[in-house]
Amino acid sequence: MHIILLGGPGAGKGTQGDFICKEYGIPKISTGDMLRNAVSIGSELGKKAESIMKNGELVSDDLILALVKDRLDQPDCRKGFLFDGFPRTIPQAEGLESLKVSIDIIIELVVEDNEIVKRMSGRRVHMGSGRTYHIVYNPPSVADKDDLTGEPLVQRADDMEETVRKRLNVYSQQTKPLIDWFKNYELRNSTAKFVQVKGMGSVESIRDRLIREIKKINTTYKV
Ligand code: AP5
Repeated sequence: MHIILLGGPGAGKGTQGDFICKEYGIPKISTGDMLRNAVSIGSELGKKAESIMKNGELVSDDLILALVKDRLDQPDCRKGFLFDGFPRTIPQAEGLESLKVSIDIIIELVVEDNEIVKRMSGRRVHMGSGRTYHIVYNPPSVADKDDLTGEPLVQRADDMEETVRKRLNVYSQQTKPLIDWFKNYELRNSTAKFVQVKGMGSVESIRDRLIREIKKINTTYKV
């Protein structure tokens, strides 16, 4: 099962991606988590990406494609995977296609901008795993602590309201054109399916909606 989860910043890709991956036993490939990890360990990639991410801009397509190609070579990807936050530009989608990686399901999570700003201001993250919480809508069992490790949760540097608005602009200019690209991809690939799923409502109701859509599309994957 090869899935792409598209959606604006804070649309819930990370939150819902975790549910889908658990349900189907596949790894989540989040380029955002991989980049944040590179920044935290101070690697060459991290040094190049840090200020770009803080400004809410996109890291170069070449760096992202190299990162994804390496990740896809890992053995756990043989059983399938879910991309969270990749591809984000048409050259990235073209790069993925040139790797001859077929995609079965492309899902766009659709959320209104004002809801996104509300979500981001309360987001807290466990940096080690990328697990995401919200202080009101999806709180951890113990305030400011990760449920699994008990380690501290932090606020992301790019979750300031001004940067979130910049990221929304970048999404609409550079990532939204992918919707038409994937509609076209669906026409070119008889096994691929593109769907739009409403990302508003409770975390659980969206999870159920997504799993229902995936089961409808791919009846061969039993849970
Ligand atoms: P990335 O980490 O991918 O950020 P993003 O796409 O902007 O998405 P987010 O992680 O902010 O949000 P999400 O959709 O995962 O939402 P979440 O589930 O956390 O990328 C960060 C940066 O890295 C980019 O800006 C760029 O610089 C760089 N980058 C990454 N990939 C790249 C690429 N391919 N090319 C170039 N550059 C790249 O939910 C948000 C909050 O809402 C949480 O607090 C959550 O608990 C809460 N929440 C979730 N669902 C609900 C709900 N239903 N109701 C209420 N609250 C909810």
